[in-house]
Amino acid sequence: MIEQKIKAAIRDVHDFPKPGIIFKDVTTILQDHQLCQEILDAFVERAQGMHIDAVAGVESRGFLFGLMIAMKLGVPFIPVRKAGKLPFTVKRKVYELEYGTATIELHTDAFTPGSNVLIHDDLLATGGTVTATSELIKEMGGHIAGFSFVVGLSFLKGEEKISPISDNIVVLANY
Ligand code: PRP
Ligand code: MG
Repeated sequence: MIEQKIKAAIRDVHDFPKPGIIFKDVTTILQDHQLCQEILDAFVERAQGMHIDAVAGVESRGFLFGLMIAMKLGVPFIPVRKAGKLPFTVKRKVYELEYGTATIELHTDAFTPGSNVLIHDDLLATGGTVTATSELIKEMGGHIAGFSFVVGLSFLKGEEKISPISDNIVVLANY
């Protein structure tokens, strides 16, 4: 099963980025092109019926599969970037982290208003990043078709946070 394969490929890194944290390192998945293909196929299969017009990927690890999913679905890709990276005019959203705040930005012409957007990221933790992303997309006239993640940390209750935004939540490997 894909979940077991992903879990076998992920590397746990202890005490990164802070003491006490066990970091789920997905870079080891990228060494296995066959597994990457299976992950892509699983996302595309689960996206059927969601009526997706565009895929938004969250910098930086959401870019890895995000563009591939968009290409497979034959729809545009929307890069959601951290502050100060996008060169054209932007709309931004500041959101709360455990300590402090973070900012994400989208180009003002990143997608056609009215689009149904799938939001993709590598990992769902608290859900703060993709919630901010969905708020920004909605403020810009988009609809949220659903969410997809390679990994979910269910003990952080991210799915509970984002399920009011969309019921379509794909998590390939849950911890
Ligand atoms: C991580 C991860 C998600 C986000 C999940 O990204 O890749 O984007 O945190 O956390 P949340 O659900 O609590 O919002 P990070 O900010 O570490 O940046 P990176 O992807 O650029 O490495
Ligand atoms: Mg990230």
